Amino acid sequence: MDDRPIGLFDSGFGGLTVARAVIDLLPAEHLVYIGDTGRYPYGPRPLEQVRRFAAQITAKLVAEHRVKMIVVACNTAAAAGVEPVAGVPVISVIEPGVRAALRASESGRVGVIGTVGTISSGAYQGSFACADPVGRVQLTCAACPGFVEFVERGETDSDQVYVLAERLLAPVVEAKVDTLLLGCTHYPFLARTISDVVGRDVVLVSSADETAFELRALLAESGLARGTPGAGHHTWISSGDVSTFRRLGRRLLGPEIGVVEGWEPAPA
Ligand code: DGL
Repeated sequence: MDDRPIGLFDSGFGGLTVARAVIDLLPAEHLVYIGDTGRYPYGPRPLEQVRRFAAQITAKLVAEHRVKMIVVACNTAAAAGVEPVAGVPVISVIEPGVRAALRASESGRVGVIGTVGTISSGAYQGSFACADPVGRVQLTCAACPGFVEFVERGETDSDQVYVLAERLLAPVVEAKVDTLLLGCTHYPFLARTISDVVGRDVVLVSSADETAFELRALLAESGLARGTPGAGHHTWISSGDVSTFRRLGRRLLGPEIGVVEGWEPAPA
């Protein structure tokens, strides 16, 4: 039994898809969520810089919030590499997403979409190769620059995002995938548009639920689950405008977002 909170972070609002799944599956756990909205998007940045941002955030979660586990709710940060701090275990969204996509695909034709940083890092290509050593999967990867910015503006269903999606998703449509892995935690907020463009028979896989299940298993295995009945406490932190985070965050995640604390990271 361990009363310490779980830390989650993302460049902004995307990780809220993972936070939602964690709150639903593990309602008794305390959470601390950091949205680095002051420095989003991470996708076009050099991976080395994203790694430094992630290191700053994990250090803060461990030193100031004494988290017992860290969930990297950002594919780009996970692709850049996040080191454990002071022995606190770190889990990411990439491997759980790959597992869920492999389970969902019948034809073996799988698409992955993500930020430029994630797709060009080869993290998904490597993770599929490990999880599917016999090579059953025919993988089509496409970077989707611009999607994250639409979500951060709260524009999840406009004509402009539809036109962009038609252009960026053309390679996965052409490859006739039966499963599309949303390899960026912002993209589930665009699921209706994406589904409209790729065809509603294509299964969209978000890594959020699978990551929450992995977290639950890990907490149980390591004896770190809170194990106390009653709802956990949630702390929300943003490096950008806190009132925007609260307003848009409540729309995207729900009423659990109450007070939002500000944070000004040192230049990294
Ligand atoms: N949600 C982040 C991810 O999963 C978005 C990165 C960005 O800010 O570009 O990659």
